[in-house]
Amino acid sequence: MKLIENMRKQALEELALAGDAGGLEKWRIHYLGKKGPVQGLMKELKSLPKEDKPVFGQLVNKLKNELKEAHGVAKERLGAAPKSGGDEDLTLPGIPPLIGTRHPITQMMEQMISCMKSLGFEVAEGPEVEDEFHNFNALNIPENHPARSEADNFYLSDNQLLRSQTSTVQIRVMENRKPPLRIIAPGRVYRPDSVDASHHYMFHQIEGLAVDKGLTMQDMKSTLIQFFAGLFGEDLEIRLRPNFFPFTEPSAEVDVACPFCKGKGCSTCQQKGWIEMGGCGMVDPNVFKAVGYDPDVYTGFAFGLGIERMAMRRFGIPDIRYLTENDVRFLSQFPG
Ligand code: DAH
Repeated sequence: MKLIENMRKQALEELALAGDAGGLEKWRIHYLGKKGPVQGLMKELKSLPKEDKPVFGQLVNKLKNELKEAHGVAKERLGAAPKSGGDEDLTLPGIPPLIGTRHPITQMMEQMISCMKSLGFEVAEGPEVEDEFHNFNALNIPENHPARSEADNFYLSDNQLLRSQTSTVQIRVMENRKPPLRIIAPGRVYRPDSVDASHHYMFHQIEGLAVDKGLTMQDMKSTLIQFFAGLFGEDLEIRLRPNFFPFTEPSAEVDVACPFCKGKGCSTCQQKGWIEMGGCGMVDPNVFKAVGYDPDVYTGFAFGLGIERMAMRRFGIPDIRYLTENDVRFLSQFPG
């Protein structure tokens, strides 16, 4: 009886330690199998007096049944507990995958393109490595003009440079097409400015050009008003201030009433009520001559706007350097 009692104790202790289905099965094969120690107890029968044999047999059978039952209970307990691996709860909500966002400059550019497309303009492109003809000569920028200086441009060789303005695309398009035309050219431009919170040696502009018979400054102004209305979602007043650009005559700087304070003055517009957007004007006859258009037949207007400046205002970005650092913590703040 002592033997039986010890066996029971040992078996139940080990059962309590079996923590998974594999351990439980091992325990079952060991204790309930034909070659196991419980069955082995029957060998003791031989050495027992005759009258004790039936009682001993009954007790071993009782132990077997008891262990079977304990095994069943342990199996059930294990089945109800959470399992690891293979049996995940498919009804749990998923973990949303990390998807990228478009760069704020790209978002701004795409919005501008869609505004201008709705006004009948199409997108044109030009190379970032340009020659002097397209970057200067054809744009009526004279040989000795300071805009050509080595300090203000990234020259690659005597006649090659990284374009300093998207106005080059005006020339590329007019060389290859006949008027009427309406194009916009968004893209990168390069100038050797020292980098600080509001300056970079690489930034983006969007250039607009329309050429047709009889286009006037009024067409330019209404196009710009509609462009900014599309961009800011409402009609905003614009202001043209006289200026000079070699490739337009007359030329102007275009300001738009601050969309945040509606012209009252706020921190975004530095209390001015207006935000400077870029330059514009009527295409200079010399530019038309350079591309073989007859300035007595055609007129046109053009504009060039900085994209970084607008994106920084739109998204509240305080430092232009964030835009090129590719820090995901920054970029993920502009879903879209
Ligand atoms: N290209 C000029 C710049 O980079 C901007 C500009 C001014 C473009 C007047 C134009 C324009 O098309 O008509 O500063």
